Amino acid sequence: MGKVYEATVTAPVNIAVIKYWGKRDSALILPTNSSLSVTLSQDHLSTRTTIRASPDFTIDRLWLNGVEEDINASKRLVNSITTARKLREALEEKQKQDGIPAESVVPLSQWKIHVCSENNFPTAAGLASSASGYAALVSALGTLYELPQTTSELSRVARVGSGSACRSMFGGFVAWQAGIADDGHDSLAVQVADRQHWPELQALILVASDKKKAVSSTAGMQTTVETSSLFAERVRTVVPQRMEAMKEAIAKRDFETFAEITMRDSNQFHAVCLDTYPPISYMNDTSRAVAGLVHAFNSARGRTAAAYTYDAGPNAVIYALKSDMRDLVELFTYCFPREDSILPDAFYPDPFSIFDSPEQAGHRLTDPVICKLANTVGKYSAGSVRRIIHTEVGDGPRVLPASQSLLNDVGMPK
Ligand code: DP6
Repeated sequence: MGKVYEATVTAPVNIAVIKYWGKRDSALILPTNSSLSVTLSQDHLSTRTTIRASPDFTIDRLWLNGVEEDINASKRLVNSITTARKLREALEEKQKQDGIPAESVVPLSQWKIHVCSENNFPTAAGLASSASGYAALVSALGTLYELPQTTSELSRVARVGSGSACRSMFGGFVAWQAGIADDGHDSLAVQVADRQHWPELQALILVASDKKKAVSSTAGMQTTVETSSLFAERVRTVVPQRMEAMKEAIAKRDFETFAEITMRDSNQFHAVCLDTYPPISYMNDTSRAVAGLVHAFNSARGRTAAAYTYDAGPNAVIYALKSDMRDLVELFTYCFPREDSILPDAFYPDPFSIFDSPEQAGHRLTDPVICKLANTVGKYSAGSVRRIIHTEVGDGPRVLPASQSLLNDVGMPK
């Protein structure tokens, strides 16, 4: 068998603390405002993607979580792949110009590809996977094609797949600079601080059951841009100020400021959704109860010790420092009890060993003040939170060895 041209990578999920909502160009996915996110650990949430290029392949093919999809059905997918191929073509041209004999330049840009991609979290968890998915696609193509572009430059290729994906190209704390150019060359992700900068910062994802299908981000933000008058104010004055204040809070590891801006920005994003006509509402009763409990926790602590944020759905992400996580987990597992049909390990897998065993989740309240708060609030109906994922700040896309490939000898899913 000849040389195999293949790359396998994993890429992380990111959760914005200053939200991206609104496009000034829908085809290139150029945003109306800058945004800022925290990259979450790939040990708990990630997409793994293998891409192989071969002269033997007759068409481009794609498998997502074990099911073959039509790779040409999504314009955005085609855009990302075509853009990466063009960068490879330019590299091949340059190699020839630099005097490398034509027969030694591998024409990868001309070969068809097989793409196989899997999430390490259940799709049923209701977590958006487009950010980690496109970041994995672009990182794998960048590695396979040996592209010389920087990670920021490659983030533009992830951006044309899904806006928020450009931020998953880095670990730690990441800003997506909106840019002003019509061609989008200055609309890219930059790292604000790496994951080591603030290792105490952790996250808790509360997966809230939701029967209704939400309005997609793409459609929702389009209607907001067209109809909301609050939105114009957000883009013009609020976000630019918050971006600066947030960067400073991260630089100083000032959790209270970080947390307050995070909550205010989430609230404003959802307010702008309600100001959209017809209105869009992503949070449900459970989401609102979670937000209320976070404020109650902060009052009990006498400081801003936790922050919630919500994307285009009812799931909450709560940021807190490691030193506050035990009480927070005990409180939330008590007030949002597990439904009997969900196994303890699926409800709260307990990766940081908060409990002696996952069965203890919901049955232990160590701190007397938090215990009092829990008793005052009481329990919401079992199962209104289906799953709790405890994670921390993580690194950017990782290149894996060939042994981790999702494709077999002939380039089909294993
Ligand atoms: C609410 O990146 O999913 O999560 O660019 O149309 O693919 P498209 O939208 P998408 O929007 C994410 C919106 C958000 C906020 C955020 O992540 O900043």
